[in-house]
Amino acid sequence: MTVGNCQQEHPMIKEPIIMRPNKLFVFAVLAAFVLFTFFQACKKGTDTTLINTYPAVLAAFGSNIDLNNLSNYTGQTIPAYITKDNSAADPVTNAGATLGRVLFYDKNLSVTNTIACASCHKQSMAFGDSVIQSLGANGLTARHSMRLVNARFAQEVRFFWDKRAASLEDQTTQPIQNHNEMGYSGANGDPGIGVLIAKLQAIPYYNELFKFVYGDSVITQTRMQNAMSQFVRSIQSFDSKFDAGMAVANNLNQDFSNYTAQENLGKQLFLAPPALPGAPGVPILGAGCQGCHRAPEFDIDPNAANNGIISVAGNPLLTDITNTNPPSLRNLLNPAGKPNGLFMHDGSINSLAGVINHYNLIAINPINTNLDPRLANGGKGQSLNLSQPQKDAIAAFLATLSGNDVYTNKKWASPFLK
Ligand code: HEC
Ligand code: HEC
Repeated sequence: MTVGNCQQEHPMIKEPIIMRPNKLFVFAVLAAFVLFTFFQACKKGTDTTLINTYPAVLAAFGSNIDLNNLSNYTGQTIPAYITKDNSAADPVTNAGATLGRVLFYDKNLSVTNTIACASCHKQSMAFGDSVIQSLGANGLTARHSMRLVNARFAQEVRFFWDKRAASLEDQTTQPIQNHNEMGYSGANGDPGIGVLIAKLQAIPYYNELFKFVYGDSVITQTRMQNAMSQFVRSIQSFDSKFDAGMAVANNLNQDFSNYTAQENLGKQLFLAPPALPGAPGVPILGAGCQGCHRAPEFDIDPNAANNGIISVAGNPLLTDITNTNPPSLRNLLNPAGKPNGLFMHDGSINSLAGVINHYNLIAINPINTNLDPRLANGGKGQSLNLSQPQKDAIAAFLATLSGNDVYTNKKWASPFLK
């Protein structure tokens, strides 16, 4: 029956007056139902619009990145005994770190579209690398890649083994502008970083992400630096055996109840200064590590000088005495107890035992005019005379500085679907 027919029929129906309210009632119920359905549809429509506001982000990252429900980077638990923090000028935000995560894993940041930050900073290795020199877009790195765990929790604000970056923000675009690493150096035929920015500006997910974080889609070097720094500073690790012990003891010098006797001995040796030869009444002959790698952050003393490792990665005949800034000593080993790659700026040491043997006997080398006075020992060099059980104890203690979460937590993993 058509509507027309209905209307034609209508005048012919003689209804008792009493039927009218019922008809009205039915009409009202029907109208309410129609309106309700319409609003439901509208509500659904709104939901769909919310997701579809970021179609390019959805296409590139799927559920790995949900801009309506960001991963938790800002609200992570930081133990009360951790007091050093270099993030004041560029605090970590969930939105900024999310953009930083995309940039960190994006191979588009290299001229060859083959190398991302993560190519050399691997999550499975505490964001370090297994090889002495990592392979970049145009060649090998000059030094060994550094682990990036707890970079935020350090007094030192400068970055790189030789502190040549004045801040983390400054650091983050240096690999991009390095010929070997990512290749946008702007020198000797390389395109400059402006070319990279134009390239990223044409990628739809960056339009959405920069707008989401900064209010408009314009990409600048500063915006990239801030976002990448926020991501790097978000990478934290406080679920180690050391942290469990420290939370209970709340005092570095007290034995930890969750430690073995060997680990507690190693802790004592790490913390205590080395006894000068012949010093009277020294309660414990320490190894003096704490003077430079300061627990509970295990960040480096900003005044530390060179530690006696002076060769050049891949070229042991050359010397380099400028390296004074190792990453935090946390997560030297992975959860399986294997080293996260190699140690020192030249990747010359591959085990904790090797590290401890180095410090046990440091001879004076006249070439090294930058050797830290604490290791020079008045020109005599350092001779800790550690026994094998003492060396093993220090290694056992260093092994307690590794956590688990940082290696697998998805918020620090690649967001790309392919
Ligand atoms: C080709 C390998 C490679 C790539 C790509 C790379 N890095 Fe590195 N990274 C290194 C090496 C090697 C060092 C140490 C260099 C030095 O000190 O001279 C380093 C050092 C760092 C440091 C300093 C850590 C500290 O404690 O001082 C940070 C932070 C860092 N990289 C972040 C990044 C970011 C962010 C990117 C991407 C924009 C990136 N890296 C790309 C190899 C790489
Ligand atoms: C005088 C300061 C100083 C003292 C004391 C010191 N270190 Fe170091 N340590 C450094 C410096 C500087 C580096 C970076 C050296 C390099 O790569 O050129 C370093 C590097 C390391 C590394 C390698 C880190 C990495 O990421 O590759 C380990 C492990 C280490 N030290 C452990 C120890 C232990 C254990 C002790 C005590 C036995 C100790 N250090 C004492 C200054 C010091």
